[in-house]
Amino acid sequence: LNAFVKRTWYRAAWSRDLTDKPLHQKICGEEIAFYRTAAGEAKAIGAICPHRGSNLANGKVVKDGLQCPYHGWRFSADGKCADIPSQPDSIAIQEKACVPHYPVREQQGIVWIWPERAGTPDAEPPTYELLGERSDMGVLLAPEAVLNANFVNVVENGFDESHLCFLHERTIGVKTAIVPRQLISKDNDGLGVTARWDPEVEWGGDLLSYKGEVKPKRKLVDDVIALISYKFLSKGVPDWRLRRWSFRMGGSVAYQEFASNGDPLLLVMGSATPIDSKSTMFAVAFVSPIYRNWLGRALGNYTVNLLNSEDQLGTEGLLSMADELAHPVSVIADRPAVAFRRLYTGALRTENGDGASDAPKLTEVA
Ligand code: FES
Ligand SMILES: [Fe+2]
Repeated sequence: LNAFVKRTWYRAAWSRDLTDKPLHQKICGEEIAFYRTAAGEAKAIGAICPHRGSNLANGKVVKDGLQCPYHGWRFSADGKCADIPSQPDSIAIQEKACVPHYPVREQQGIVWIWPERAGTPDAEPPTYELLGERSDMGVLLAPEAVLNANFVNVVENGFDESHLCFLHERTIGVKTAIVPRQLISKDNDGLGVTARWDPEVEWGGDLLSYKGEVKPKRKLVDDVIALISYKFLSKGVPDWRLRRWSFRMGGSVAYQEFASNGDPLLLVMGSATPIDSKSTMFAVAFVSPIYRNWLGRALGNYTVNLLNSEDQLGTEGLLSMADELAHPVSVIADRPAVAFRRLYTGALRTENGDGASDAPKLTEVA
């Protein structure tokens, strides 16, 4: 993984999953131990004990640091070794007896990590208007999935509307294959993109018409799931197809719906966190009225697992990985993905000191 990939915020865990027991995650190739201090503050230090390599996340929290389960060496939140029980205090602790430490933030029920060792973040993690802030909305923080796929491919999948009626034909793929052309805008800081359907441009069409309808063999249970996903989830949302995807460097892809008065109505936030160059952790947060009760949340969890297993075929089944950012053939429906690749390639070129831009071009197909 390139160094620039580590210089941003990623979702590391849902807050509820970081309890008083430390948590081990591999993120951007870094083995990281997350834990909470006595005051409940989330911390992240390298998980590999410099003594004999034990996993510090299997140890326990002692004096706001982590104590290794093997011989009890204790590391503070700044990664320095604060105690070696097997030697007298009169002997100085070697300086190299330390582990990396990483910036952490916790907000809106999400633990964020900046996986650069001793990094100094130049921005804050994204916040989402709807997350946990309205009593008429329910929040579903779905279980994580580990995909044996490159981060770039997983992010693209989160942005990809034209796969819905094929890869998801048994579940949510009840829609037209034709994707309205999207308008792309770049965030002011150059670290994110937003794609939204523009009713002014061609191919907007009648969004509720079923062009290119797919007639899949459905299982009854999946029919029910599809009904819940599309009918109930879109309840109260005036135009379910008015899409507004936004991506922030750091792998979070958010789809938000707003009422005509600008009031937020629905949020689907997917986050892709690179584990290493070949695997990615993917988690989704949904905010909608249907998740206010346990039944809605239970069905939501079922849906997410089903969808993840379908997306697995798309992201894991690639015969060519996006690792080297090959230039694939793209069409108008791939606009958001292409915008993301441009962002990514731009960062890659800056890192390589290579100004020449041969970022993937959009092939306009008539
Ligand atoms: S391996 Fe950690 S203290 Fe020995
Ligand atoms: Fe999908």
